[in-house]
Amino acid sequence: MSLLEVKEVTHTYGSSRWFWRSSRQTTVLSNVSLSVEPGMCMGLLGTSGAGKSTLGRVILGLEKPQKGSVLFQGQDLYSMDSLTRKRIRKDLQVVFQDCYSSVNPRMTAEEIIGEPLENYERLSPAEQKRRVAQLLDMVGLNTGDMKKYPRQFSGGQLQRINIARAIALKPKMMVLDESVSSLDMVNQTHILDLLMKLKSEFGLSYLFITHDIRAAYTISDTLAVMDQGEMVGIYADKNQVFASHHPTVKKLVSSILSEHPRNRSISSGGSRVKPST
Ligand SMILES: Nc1ncnc2c1ncn2[C@@H]1O[C@H](COP(=O)(O)OP(=O)(O)OP(=O)(O)O)[C@@H](O)[C@H]1O
Ligand SMILES: [Mg+2]
Repeated sequence: MSLLEVKEVTHTYGSSRWFWRSSRQTTVLSNVSLSVEPGMCMGLLGTSGAGKSTLGRVILGLEKPQKGSVLFQGQDLYSMDSLTRKRIRKDLQVVFQDCYSSVNPRMTAEEIIGEPLENYERLSPAEQKRRVAQLLDMVGLNTGDMKKYPRQFSGGQLQRINIARAIALKPKMMVLDESVSSLDMVNQTHILDLLMKLKSEFGLSYLFITHDIRAAYTISDTLAVMDQGEMVGIYADKNQVFASHHPTVKKLVSSILSEHPRNRSISSGGSRVKPST
């Protein structure tokens, strides 16, 4: 059974009042399907406005689609009881692009990371502190950072805190929406390395939403490409993306190839991958 299954989802934004319907409604997801297996990372690619974040919100239970269903561990997200929904929220976490607006500026790192533990696990103060220290260590920060406020961290460090908070409850899956896009190349690489380490150590699954094919290719096992609200390609092996004839996919691929005009290949984790033509 897939961990996550999105089945023929259609979503429309706009007023539902009948007299606005014809002029105001915009369909942003049309019949979109995908599935993510346990322990796997799917990179969800597409140009700006393709509907990636909307699909992310639908998957997180934040945006009820007009049609279709979202199954997490075989259960329909939009027809489950509140207890099951609470458990699912624990297993399905999210990290957004803007690390600063994702946190309360008046909370310390210890409070930010400890918040989900307080909500879901009743730990003694000493045990909670120990868990926060462990989480900071897992994301490459140290206990000395506990009492710091968001403004005292760099973007890369703060994104590590967001990741620590997201993994605090040992989720099964994380939706990462442009989570490395606002970071410089060095920090991007560090965060991607961290995510890959967490994935292999804890069997985490990711839906890695991005417009950056290079980042998606680095971290993902499978790739999906959206264009104007439609799924235009799903590649069970990420290397299949190079053989696609779909114009949107070819454009994405050529955006990285064009950086290497003489050597038409890209590097990933030390190995070089030659795309098929
Ligand atoms: N709350 C909303 N109300 C109305 N329209 C919206 C809303 N959110 C997004 N849209 C529209 O839905 C379409 C898809 O937006 P979405 O944010 O999902 O795209 P995206 O693929 O994530 O783009 P980007 O790469 O720029 O983040 C866009 O045309 C956008 O204007
Ligand atoms: Mg988006």
